[in-house]
Amino acid sequence: MLENKKVAILGTGTMGRAIAQGMLNAGVMDTDRLLGTVRTEREARDVAEQVPFPISTDNAAAARGADVLLLCTKPKHVAPLMRELGEAGALDHDPLVICIAAGVRIAEIEAAAGVAVRVVRAMPNTPCLIGEGMIVLSPGSHSGEAELDLAVSVFQPLGRVLRLDEEHMDAVTGLSGSGPAFVYVIIEALAEGGVMAGLPRRVATELAAQTVKGAARMVLETGRHPAALKDDVTTPAGCTVSALLMMEDGRLRSVLARGVQEAARSAAGLGGAPDRDQQ
Ligand SMILES: NC(=O)c1ccc[n+]([C@@H]2O[C@H](COP(=O)([O-])OP(=O)(O)OC[C@H]3O[C@@H](n4cnc5c(N)ncnc54)[C@H](OP(=O)(O)O)[C@@H]3O)[C@@H](O)[C@H]2O)c1
Repeated sequence: MLENKKVAILGTGTMGRAIAQGMLNAGVMDTDRLLGTVRTEREARDVAEQVPFPISTDNAAAARGADVLLLCTKPKHVAPLMRELGEAGALDHDPLVICIAAGVRIAEIEAAAGVAVRVVRAMPNTPCLIGEGMIVLSPGSHSGEAELDLAVSVFQPLGRVLRLDEEHMDAVTGLSGSGPAFVYVIIEALAEGGVMAGLPRRVATELAAQTVKGAARMVLETGRHPAALKDDVTTPAGCTVSALLMMEDGRLRSVLARGVQEAARSAAGLGGAPDRDQQ
């Protein structure tokens, strides 16, 4: 569906670049159908040196030439940007607007546009860069199956795609949107333990990362409950159960669960709050 479609990334920061690069890596997008924008001329020059497609500061011009607009600015910039586009008539050709901002409600995006606009809200994560992202999509009030299908064609090459009602988006943000950061800390901590036990750091980091990857694939590919898979590793009176009990003493499980809950709570307050930054 993305064939021959032009895509404008409005706000080509970390996430905008990850999505753009993911689409290019997957071969579903060409550099001549892709355009990015940033806020300042200086940033445009910097970003243009890092990406293989044109970067400008003219959101309206970029939007007018595109079939799909990917809004990748911080949450507080989304409504002003939609207002700018609506007032400039840059939405009159009825592009699909996909917004990835944490905490920004579809109703906010639609209202700011000032005209009827087809919106899909998306929550991706940074592993989109290597085709291992988790992306959740929710349709706006003027979007149906065709719009969701077009959004799926943008994100499918970048990872695993789920469709959920918008009411779940803050929880999704707290779990899979923020989640890579939590997992990096876990990998770093596991590697630190390996270093403490005498492994060279490079080896310890490789062992930790592959172990997390392998365990994640076991959950996804066997469909078994994580607790059952954990039980397979815990030999009676062995070293694993001994370590697990120590981790439970440190409240590892509730710290992680409460962390996700806190990220979801925080995400819920990001939309329409000009004094707040992003996740
Ligand atoms: N990072 C993640 O892992 C992640 C995951 C899921 C969703 N998200 C969402 O993705 C969005 C972007 O996050 P990020 O981490 O990529 O942030 P980021 O690196 O700060 O990127 C945002 C970009 O948008 C630019 N921008 C701001 N106002 C603009 C405007 N009016 N027109 C064009 N460009 C504009 C910013 O420029 P300036 O720096 O000059 O302001 C910056 O280049 C956020 O809404 C976040 O909630 C992020």
